[in-house]
Amino acid sequence: MPNDLSNRPTLPAEIARRRTFAIISHPDAGKTTLTEKFLLYGGAIQLAGQVRAKGEARRTRSDFMKMEQERGISVSASAMSFDYQEWRFNLVDTPGHSDFSEDTYRTLTAVDAAIMVIDGAKGVESQTRKLFEVCRLRDLPILTFCNKMDRESRDTFDIIDEIQQNLAIDVTPASWPIGMGRDFIGCYDILNDRLELMDRADRNRVAESIRIDGMDDPKLAEHVPPHLLEQLRDELEMARELLPPFDHKSFLEGHLTPIWFGSAINSFGVKELMQGIGKYGPPPQPQKAAERQILPEEEKVTGFVFKVQANMDPKHRDRVAFVRLASGHFQRGQKLFHVRSKKAMTVANPVLFLASDRELAEEGWAGDIIGIPNHGQLRIGDALTEGESLRFTGIPSFAPELLRTARAGDPMKAKHLEKALMQFAEEGAAKVFKPAIGSGFIVGVVGALQFDVLASRIESEYSLPVRFEASQFTSARWVTGPKTDVERFVAANKGHIAYDNDGDIVYLTRLQWDIDRIERDFPTLRLAATKEMH
Ligand code: G4P
Repeated sequence: MPNDLSNRPTLPAEIARRRTFAIISHPDAGKTTLTEKFLLYGGAIQLAGQVRAKGEARRTRSDFMKMEQERGISVSASAMSFDYQEWRFNLVDTPGHSDFSEDTYRTLTAVDAAIMVIDGAKGVESQTRKLFEVCRLRDLPILTFCNKMDRESRDTFDIIDEIQQNLAIDVTPASWPIGMGRDFIGCYDILNDRLELMDRADRNRVAESIRIDGMDDPKLAEHVPPHLLEQLRDELEMARELLPPFDHKSFLEGHLTPIWFGSAINSFGVKELMQGIGKYGPPPQPQKAAERQILPEEEKVTGFVFKVQANMDPKHRDRVAFVRLASGHFQRGQKLFHVRSKKAMTVANPVLFLASDRELAEEGWAGDIIGIPNHGQLRIGDALTEGESLRFTGIPSFAPELLRTARAGDPMKAKHLEKALMQFAEEGAAKVFKPAIGSGFIVGVVGALQFDVLASRIESEYSLPVRFEASQFTSARWVTGPKTDVERFVAANKGHIAYDNDGDIVYLTRLQWDIDRIERDFPTLRLAATKEMH
């Protein structure tokens, strides 16, 4: 969807100040550290520790974990909101494991922009690349943060060149690093003509910022040693010749990414990055539904479920459905229309994951993410409105590419296993098929690692050991068509038929040839590799 050019003048102020985004990165690049610093600047966590030793980062992390425990929910696994300057940031977390997961993709349907974090020594890594491609499919604007500049890192031009070549996106430097590794002293903020100096002694302090009047300002020489200053002048001149200048339109269309250099662990460059998202946006964007486009400024509330998380609180079996508000001004207690079931539902206890004080969400605006605790009524892809029948599009369902048979470690616990699997199917963590003949379940996923994640969640959340064994089937197709033809088809292919968690009919096979044959023999039937999410 084309992004808007600027903060639309028609947006109410509360909506215009919202920035809903995700962080994409390869494991270990510094996403957690950067998130912590965002929360620190957002006033969400206070750090008491005065000792600035190596252990500090760990302590910070455990503060954060403690916060998670106190809340009884996994903050980092979901969405967090915090204020910084005039903006309200909604940070939606992308799951951390390194396999491609549907969850990640769906998460990215709920945001308007992404921050790509790369390690200055490693450049663009595999997971970054995959996630970047997903962002590109949606033309999401991307801000890049090149982290760990306090360590030996690659040459600045090399890094920029690699991003341009590898990801086919234009890169413009928002800041320029001065020195490298042990000699790294800070950055020249190109967008604001400022010198930002890093304070190595205090990892949680906002860096010192010195206003500069262009590159000839004598103040530069007071703070930057001569050899680094000379290098900075040369490099900036070269950058000006070789790299495109910042262009807002191009950024919003996803063609150009501004890059900031910094060190998350030293809190360096983080503030500039946050100001970058704040200033350049984008604010909440229009969302697509099958019927029409939904504008954030519309008065009536609409939203869609992009994620369902079960067992957030081990004491309850409740689920939380994460809803991205697409339009309007939601208020707690509001009655909304659940389009799929055509029923009204009163949203009495919505949770807004305001990082500073976990409160019930009294209100929410377009762009916000609210959590709605429920017993399973809300599914991924569901729409909530004030009465209109809308079907949001763009929330994908993936064809399961790997099928395995799930078996309970203890055969007496088969019923429990069924419950656990159905739960995960509803969360969208896997596809679960119950064969028409025989026992057991066939589980379909997109990436092999998802089996490990499922097994460990079933074990920890349901105390149920589970094995995933090779299945005789390799492909699944959803079958639709005229009722009598479907019945005739099912009767003739019993050994290949299964039902998904909604009771819909699925044809399982290992041969493309079978699928082709059926399409020939049953021309009125449709065999689909994916199913709409509702
Ligand atoms: P992730 O969520 O992307 O996986 O990365 P995370 O923030 O956990 O950071 C991975 C490691 O990189 C951590 O080290 C972290 O401290 C370190 N790190 C993050 N930002 C910077 C930085 O700006 N400079 C340097 N030098 N290191 C950084 P660790 O050894 O795994 O943990 P710890 O012992 O430091 O806590």
